[in-house]
Amino acid sequence: MEFYEAVRNRKMVREWSDAPVPEETLMRILDAGLAAPTNNHMRDWEFIVLQSDEEKENALQYVREWSQRQVESKVTEGDRPEQKMYRYAIPRQYSMLADASYVVIPLFKAGEALFRASAVNGLNLFASVWCVIENVFLAASAEGLACSLRIPVGEEGRNVCRALGVPEEYMMACYIGIGVPDDCAETLEQYVYSAEEKMHRGSW
Ligand SMILES: Cc1cc2nc3c(=O)[nH]c(=O)nc-3n(C[C@H](O)[C@H](O)[C@H](O)COP(=O)(O)O)c2cc1C
Repeated sequence: MEFYEAVRNRKMVREWSDAPVPEETLMRILDAGLAAPTNNHMRDWEFIVLQSDEEKENALQYVREWSQRQVESKVTEGDRPEQKMYRYAIPRQYSMLADASYVVIPLFKAGEALFRASAVNGLNLFASVWCVIENVFLAASAEGLACSLRIPVGEEGRNVCRALGVPEEYMMACYIGIGVPDDCAETLEQYVYSAEEKMHRGSW
């Protein structure tokens, strides 16, 4: 697939078909992730891949509990695209991962010092792993697949890392579901901008 087409086609998906994704395809996608730029030359990234129901449940039990609490406690109102997205996405935080062919958890080597950063360069390790994540999204799109994305909330990330035996010096950045979108997967309204609207020539 042509690069710009892969960029344009990339969309978060939260409903999956049962069509399997071959492991070679997953490997190509993760290799694309590992080709991302790196702030310190180290590429200190690892991936945990969850495929079976047992593997997924071990990690996703915290998302399931969180999702249930959210659904019970809050209803998002309003018709703005982000409000509609929230209303659609929150009840699907568990299923959009559990029903995907694979759940990939990107890990990056960073200590708690990251949370004390006082300038953007203190976030370089975090920025680098997000380059990995975007490469994964675009590679999945180029393969005709899609991704779902969840950011762990509060203690969730630490709990998941503990359940998965992740070494102390690594943190999870997010969960990525990868799969073949279901035919009825919803396409949500987005704000769309052109470079012409956002570009400030010379200065703001
Ligand atoms: C940093 C970041 C955090 C996000 N967190 C979540 C999340 O926790 N759960 C979720 O369902 N989607 C999450 N998303 C996906 C956004 O909802 C989605 O990217 C946005 O609605 C735009 O849609 P598109 O990616 O299909 O263009 C996140 C996206 C980003 C970039």
